[in-house]
Amino acid sequence: MAPAAAAAEADAIDQSYFMNTAIPENAPAETTTANPRLCIELHELVKIYRMGDQEVHALDGVSFSAIKGEMTAIIGASGSGKSTLMNIIGCLDRPTSGRYMLDGEDVSVFSDNQLARIRNKRIGFVFQNFNLLPRNTALENVEMPLLYSASHNARHRAMEAMERVNLRDRAHHEPNQLSGGQRQRVAIARALVTNPTIVLADEPTGNLDSRTGNEIMQLFHDLNEQGVTLIIVTHEPDIAAHCRRIIIMRDGQIIDDKDTSDAAASKKSPRNDT
Ligand SMILES: Nc1ncnc2c1ncn2[C@@H]1O[C@H](COP(=O)(O)OP(=O)(O)OP(=O)(O)O)[C@@H](O)[C@H]1O
Ligand SMILES: [Mg+2]
Repeated sequence: MAPAAAAAEADAIDQSYFMNTAIPENAPAETTTANPRLCIELHELVKIYRMGDQEVHALDGVSFSAIKGEMTAIIGASGSGKSTLMNIIGCLDRPTSGRYMLDGEDVSVFSDNQLARIRNKRIGFVFQNFNLLPRNTALENVEMPLLYSASHNARHRAMEAMERVNLRDRAHHEPNQLSGGQRQRVAIARALVTNPTIVLADEPTGNLDSRTGNEIMQLFHDLNEQGVTLIIVTHEPDIAAHCRRIIIMRDGQIIDDKDTSDAAASKKSPRNDT
């Protein structure tokens, strides 16, 4: 499919997370970092959804910091605010109040265009349903975020990202010609293609059997070892146990935040590619 047609179809299935409107590659960066080790600092985030007379306090004063290179799981019951928090961290949504510092910048005051730029350049997203364009090849799907930022060598960079997820030999397959685990790896390649510093995954293994889910977590481990900061929302304790840091949410608040380094180290299994 031609890039313009593919882009139009992407709009149709709401892939706005990784899109941007014609931001040149050489646009000036806005970074001014106070503490270069911290990539995320959240201060008393509140998110209130208003539905008529009713208010839903989806986030009720969430504060935490993430150090570059961390691999963190967020767990908690359905409705506890995990996706709301991820959407704010991913600059897809804004808090009602509170402050969000990303790489030392207060992004809570950013305009829509500035948030779009941050999403496109610094954040990769992975979703439970993969969100791949069904009529494009794996490689075209991976290339997609680059089409919105006037990038050079888009095809070559997309193939490099396919290599990072060990799927070079499936580059020309369409999503329905791939297994669930392979589809999620394509989605991960798409998240990586812009070289983001942070990858956010909301229930990335929710549609996969446990073996395939563990293989995806192994891939996340490998990426983490290459320096990517990861935040993974999951319902599954087994999946969370792959992460060194586990944050537990309840009723819009963080009720526990633990370092499980020993458990995470013992969970790591030998590589098992599909
Ligand atoms: N757009 C919205 N408008 C109104 N209320 C919303 C909206 N999005 C989420 N909520 C409410 O905010 C609360 C937190 O929702 P959220 O999606 O963050 O939960 P979650 O922890 O991700 O749940 P799940 O595990 O089921 O995905 C819920 O009570 C939900 O009903
Ligand atoms: Mg959710």
